[in-house]
Amino acid sequence: MMLNHSTDPIDPAKLTPCALTEVLSQAATDPAAFGALCAEADQIRARVFGDTVHIRGIIEFSNHCRNDCLYCGIRCSNSAITRYRMSADEILETALTAKRLGCGTVVLQSGEDPFFTAPVLSAIICRIKNETGLAVTLSVGVRTRGELAELKAAGCDRYLLRFETSSETLFNAIHPDCAFAERIACLQDLRELGYQVGSGFMIGLPDAPLEQIARDIAFTTQLNLQMIGCGPFLAHPGTPLAGKPTLEHRSVYYAAMALLRILNPHAHIPSTTAFDALDPDGRDRVMQCGANIFMPNITPAKYRRLYQLYPGKPSVDEGGDASFRRTCERLTALGRTVSTEAGHAF
Ligand code: 5AD
Repeated sequence: MMLNHSTDPIDPAKLTPCALTEVLSQAATDPAAFGALCAEADQIRARVFGDTVHIRGIIEFSNHCRNDCLYCGIRCSNSAITRYRMSADEILETALTAKRLGCGTVVLQSGEDPFFTAPVLSAIICRIKNETGLAVTLSVGVRTRGELAELKAAGCDRYLLRFETSSETLFNAIHPDCAFAERIACLQDLRELGYQVGSGFMIGLPDAPLEQIARDIAFTTQLNLQMIGCGPFLAHPGTPLAGKPTLEHRSVYYAAMALLRILNPHAHIPSTTAFDALDPDGRDRVMQCGANIFMPNITPAKYRRLYQLYPGKPSVDEGGDASFRRTCERLTALGRTVSTEAGHAF
């Protein structure tokens, strides 16, 4: 199916995986079609959210991980990295910095670290909620329903858990410690427990052709998510997927983000950090093709270099203040306004 972007707005109901593949392949090679797709996504973002950008400060509080995901730089069998855990006091102090800077949300992200049990995390969440009042998002991997209930009761507002790929075969091949069904069941638990739920996938995994990216976009849309977080797959040299190439056509990464916005007008969509590792202005470009959220890294500078899921992570020597200031500059240059509100889901 050909979509005439210049005149017809895309009808989401028509976008089957087959049609999505067609849009992606057209965007790969036809700059005019690509430009029109991004412009349409940008218009939808502007209509639904305006120019206001909510800021979520990410705190990478532990790089310990019990899992051995084939793509990830902090996989347990990567013995080349120094492991760290921030103390509860350090995490709280960083959350206070986030509040002072003007973030509406803190995102607590880590590997699947057994040290941070639900009671330990709950105590930290309670302190953050009491002392900052910020919205709290967790991104700590798969947990049992009981643990998720405990964390919700402690005050956690949101949870991010990517499904990574909607191909069950590919998922199981790259996740030796987790089954696809388990990940999807966890997303279901999160929803039933009343979390604002975010998920998404890595764009351009090895052995994932355009058709798979199209299926991932369709699958994301079917999940009816409040937040959609996606980024490019980037081969980490310390993993079994070292040396795997990026996609031949860069525009596909951005076209995928634009399609996600077009199909999910009300979802909060961040411009994720990995885009800056793909292209120097990657995150700016994603902000201009549908994203309405920016997530500066506010992890203390001494830990940042140790939390590299993929190569080329930007700003590894920067502190939280500098990251936040640069975020504001970037967004202002794009004509956007920085909000200090929590930016909850609709
Ligand atoms: N390239 C891109 N993204 C990665 N992630 C982990 N490793 C990589 C990589 N090599 C992403 C996964 C995970 C998120 C926290 O980081 O999608 O869910």
